[in-house]
Amino acid sequence: MLEKKPREVTDDEVRARSPVIETARLRLRLFRPDDLDDLAAMLRDPLVVRYVGDGKTADREVAHKALTSVIDHWRRHGFGRWAVEDKETHQFLGYGGLRSLLGMPEVVYHFATAYWGKGYATELAHACLRYGFEEHQFERIVAIAKPANAASIHVLEKLGMQYEMHTSYYEIDVVQYALDREDYETQVDSPYVLKLAL
Ligand SMILES: CC(C)(COP(=O)(O)OP(=O)(O)OC[C@H]1O[C@@H](n2cnc3c(N)ncnc32)[C@H](O)[C@@H]1OP(=O)(O)O)[C@@H](O)C(=O)NCCC(=O)NCCS
Repeated sequence: MLEKKPREVTDDEVRARSPVIETARLRLRLFRPDDLDDLAAMLRDPLVVRYVGDGKTADREVAHKALTSVIDHWRRHGFGRWAVEDKETHQFLGYGGLRSLLGMPEVVYHFATAYWGKGYATELAHACLRYGFEEHQFERIVAIAKPANAASIHVLEKLGMQYEMHTSYYEIDVVQYALDREDYETQVDSPYVLKLAL
C-alpha cells in the first residue's frame, strides 16, 4: 500500500515527529547541522558510494544538500532517515531509515567503512521496519540494491525480506525486495526504545 498523502508541517512538528530510537547498540536521531563534517567524510569515501546512485563520491556541497533533503523528507512525509550514532559514545556511524520510493516506503542504510561487518545495518534496518509497521501502519516496506551489492542484499535476506524482481529506478538497475506487514514479526528480544525528540 502506498504511504498516506503527505502534508506540509512546521519545523517544530518535524522535531516532534522524528523520534529517537535506541536499539541494543545504536541511537537513531534527527540529523543536526553539525553532522555535516561526518556525513561529508563518509560520502567522499569511494567504498561507501560504490553501489549508491551514480557511484560517484560527493563533495561537501552535495553532502549538505543530502542532509537538507533528509530533514525535508521528514517534513513532507512524516517519516525518514536518521543519523545513526553509537549509543554509548555518540560517535557518528552512518545514516539510514525509511524514505519514499515513488510513494512506497523503502528501508535504506549507509555506514562509514570503519563500522562495516558489525551487524549495524541489520540492527538499524530491524528498527526501521518495526517503526514503519508499528508507528505508520505501512502495509509493505520495500528495499532496493544494485545486484552487485552483495553485502546489502545479504542484509535484506537476514531481515526476512523477500526478493521480488529485477527492475530499475531512475535508470539504475536494481533488485527489489519487500516485506509485507502480515509477514513481519517483531523481534521481541531486540532492544527497541522509541521516544519523541521533544
Ligand atoms: C551494505 C552495508 C550497509 C552493510 O552494513 P554492515 O553494517 O556491514 O552490515 P551487517 O554487518 O549488518 O551485515 C552484512 C552482512 O553481509 C555480509 N557480507 C559482507 N560483505 C559481503 C559480500 N561481499 N558478499 C556477501 N556477503 C557479504 C556480512 O558477512 C554480513 O553477514 P553475516 O552477518 O551473515 O556475517 C555497508 O556495507 C555500507 O554502508 N555500504 C555502503 C552503502 C551501501 O551500499 N548501502 C546500501 C545501498 S543499497
